[in-house]
Amino acid sequence: MTKFNHSFAKKDFISVNQFSYKDELDKIFTVADKMKKSILKKQIRNDLKKFCITQLFYQPSTRTFTSFLAASCHLGALTIPIHGMQAYSSAVKGESLPDTIRTVEQTTACDLIILRHPDDNSSQVAADYARVPVINAGSGTREHPTQAVLDLYTIKQYFKKLKNLNIVMLGDLKYGRTVKSLAKLLALYQPSVKISFVSPKQLVMPREEIEYLQSKKIKINETNELNQVLSQADVLYVTRIQKEWFEKEGKMNLYNSLRGAYNINLKTLSQAKKKMIVMHPLPRVGEIAYEVDNDSRAAYFNQMRNGLYIRMALLRLILRKG
Ligand code: NCD
Repeated sequence: MTKFNHSFAKKDFISVNQFSYKDELDKIFTVADKMKKSILKKQIRNDLKKFCITQLFYQPSTRTFTSFLAASCHLGALTIPIHGMQAYSSAVKGESLPDTIRTVEQTTACDLIILRHPDDNSSQVAADYARVPVINAGSGTREHPTQAVLDLYTIKQYFKKLKNLNIVMLGDLKYGRTVKSLAKLLALYQPSVKISFVSPKQLVMPREEIEYLQSKKIKINETNELNQVLSQADVLYVTRIQKEWFEKEGKMNLYNSLRGAYNINLKTLSQAKKKMIVMHPLPRVGEIAYEVDNDSRAAYFNQMRNGLYIRMALLRLILRKG
């Protein structure tokens, strides 16, 4: 996997491990700020006018799919968005991912592939076979790197500096990929960021990630009780319990016993700081009550809009100079 080393041009974006320096993220944020300005001013951009971008999604998605699609269109690229690959592509007939990737590169004459796939190593496999850059739009249970960048951008938007922040990650830390990518990205900001992982004991963060974070000397804390950490939190990052992975592993009894294990509502927020923010990669399935949506601490709608700006910035940086 190629490290960015301050340049995104023509590179794949497979994992947050490709970042080594905070200012690489600042570079993306600066371009995202510009993208935000042009979207808000309704300016038409032609940055990627002569480019073709193909999206291949093998798993359900609303935000990631539509924001990548919109990002590509807002930059003037010819966009080929394909959803439902798991049901309608020749994968059903047994075609391998390398062959599908090589096929799509030929049939769409694209300059970049955006891939969402249930296998952990799918984006790397795709990158190994594609001649064009590949962006990971969520792979397996471990990586969702563009989500981590937009999450960090959102935290920065609210707190200005990524300093002295206490971040609580709540929910399905075992199967959820957004929390793993975000935690690894936050490791770049040690020692000024502390992360508390809160989950039912069956859904704790895998040891591999914990050991990685410890090796990066980031302060971490694990608990089953939100009450123990909520009052100190600056960011409460909520996730859903990932039903599909329980289904795949034949553990629906466990899922049914864990669903609804936590529910963030206004009563919960009464114990939190006034300036705390609530984030969620979404979709939510009951973890955050609708009544929270109008609280000034609810950041998840801004967070999803930031997905558009960050993905515009990434596409531009990878396909042009960057
Ligand atoms: C997340 C994902 O796909 O990992 N969704 C997203 O991209 N915003 C989170 C989830 O599905 O729970």
